[in-house]
Amino acid sequence: MSVIVAIDGPAGSGKSSVSKAVAKQLGFGYLDTGAAYRCLAWACLDSGVDLEEEDAVAHQLATIADDRPLNAGDQRHTVGSVDVTDAIRGPEVSAAVSQVAKHPRVRSGLNDSFRALAAADARPGIIIEGRDITTVVAPDAPVRILLTADEETRIARRQAEIDGVDAGALIARDRADSKVVDFMSAADGVWTLDTTRLSFDQSVEAVIDLIARHTDISTEAGQ
Ligand code: DC
Repeated sequence: MSVIVAIDGPAGSGKSSVSKAVAKQLGFGYLDTGAAYRCLAWACLDSGVDLEEEDAVAHQLATIADDRPLNAGDQRHTVGSVDVTDAIRGPEVSAAVSQVAKHPRVRSGLNDSFRALAAADARPGIIIEGRDITTVVAPDAPVRILLTADEETRIARRQAEIDGVDAGALIARDRADSKVVDFMSAADGVWTLDTTRLSFDQSVEAVIDLIARHTDISTEAGQ
């Protein structure tokens, strides 16, 4: 069973790239829970499922694999036999994913699978990142971090990652998502890491420092 490092934050906060870099450096697993919601949204769109229908969306859950990629260096996502790694980052899925993620039954089904994956992982630690990891999925994790950055910075970072990102759509998605789970303010005991004025390397270092301070796991590079 891996020690869980829970990281939440809004879109463009840098949580995915920082989490991946930390996982690579420490030899930890890495679970991108947003990608699971995106795969489900892709599957619903592909099958023509009504995104407002909780039963139908929950039924689609069975089509997305429980064995999510956990290697930070190899994040290929599939639905059935289709490689959807690029498609799940596209505007259609980004516009649909909040609708899928608002259904309680979908959330509890996915959360069970996230916990099972962490429990079965043999690496010393696993970084799980998303929106409700610090509060719902792993509220007892020894390291819980809310990664934030101001809105302007988050939009600029997302635009640097994906060509032609629509700033309005990004803000609207955060607003919709934060009605379902609050990831804009830290819950009790959750460490807020504001990366607005931090470089990427400084953000990675700050997360590693928190892991070093709150777990027994060695954080020496290459361990
Ligand atoms: O992190 P991301 O932008 O790839 O996440 C995609 C969507 O999934 C996001 O709009 C909110 C939702 N999500 C969620 O509701 N809970 C999570 N733990 C992770 C993502």
